[in-house]
Amino acid sequence: MKDFVFFRKQAIRLHLFWLYNFFKNIRETLIDWRLTEKKRQGSILFSRRISRLLINHFIGDQSQLADDRKGFLGFGLIHYSLIRNLKPQRILCVGSKGGFIPALCALACQDNDFGQVDFVDPGFGPEDPQDKFWGGTGFWGKGDVKKHFSLFDLGKRIKHHQMTSSEFKKAYPKKIYDYIYLDGDHSYQGIKRDYQSFWPQLKKGGLMILHDIVAKGFYENSQCEYGVYRFWQELSEKNKITFPFPKNSGLGILQK
Ligand SMILES: C[S@@+](CC[C@H](N)C(=O)[O-])C[C@H]1O[C@@H](n2cnc3c(N)ncnc32)[C@H](O)[C@@H]1O
Repeated sequence: MKDFVFFRKQAIRLHLFWLYNFFKNIRETLIDWRLTEKKRQGSILFSRRISRLLINHFIGDQSQLADDRKGFLGFGLIHYSLIRNLKPQRILCVGSKGGFIPALCALACQDNDFGQVDFVDPGFGPEDPQDKFWGGTGFWGKGDVKKHFSLFDLGKRIKHHQMTSSEFKKAYPKKIYDYIYLDGDHSYQGIKRDYQSFWPQLKKGGLMILHDIVAKGFYENSQCEYGVYRFWQELSEKNKITFPFPKNSGLGILQK
């Protein structure tokens, strides 16, 4: 009789444990899929399935350390966590192949319930002059940008400006930013111009982040020669964080 009571108790415990895990898994799936009410949502980035979706949809590639197979967001996670922690109000992103970093910045704003991204890219592609496109696909010039950013409703947090960074500077010379990401014209003159244009528009204490600080040589058989590494070396050591990997790109962070 004693044994019977013991086994019954154990069976009930096991059953309750199984039920607990079952409902926990359902709840986590609902959170992952953004089906629960907003206040109770965690970040969707902890779902591998969603990370893969972000990587594929917005073309997160090896130069961003993104790994589709592992569902790893690479440098995207650095931008996401910096924005989640610092809660910048205005973000500027210059240049992107498929919108990967601008989308992660917008996602961080969405999870903060605060902040807006200006994304500047004229949509240069292989058909444009050889020294201009820097791996651009031409999508921002001819694709449906609104639909592209409708994934997870990111369109509410991001505005695309189809123009070069110099044209944007002329159009919005006084707009102040808390966070600036430069990944457009990678030539020495190009990055220097973007830095000189937008550094005065960065708030004191704000961050400016440069991609491809260790990339050297020419972009895939084009006439685009990387010059960001040379410019990065010229900048003063003060408040400078360098990620010299992967060797074909790298990421540099400056605080004003
Ligand atoms: C494709 S991204 C560079 C590649 C990127 N590092 C990556 O992760 O693949 C370069 C983008 O910068 C854009 N671009 C080139 N010159 C620009 C300029 N002067 N102002 C703004 N965007 C520019 C191109 O249209 C292109 O889409």
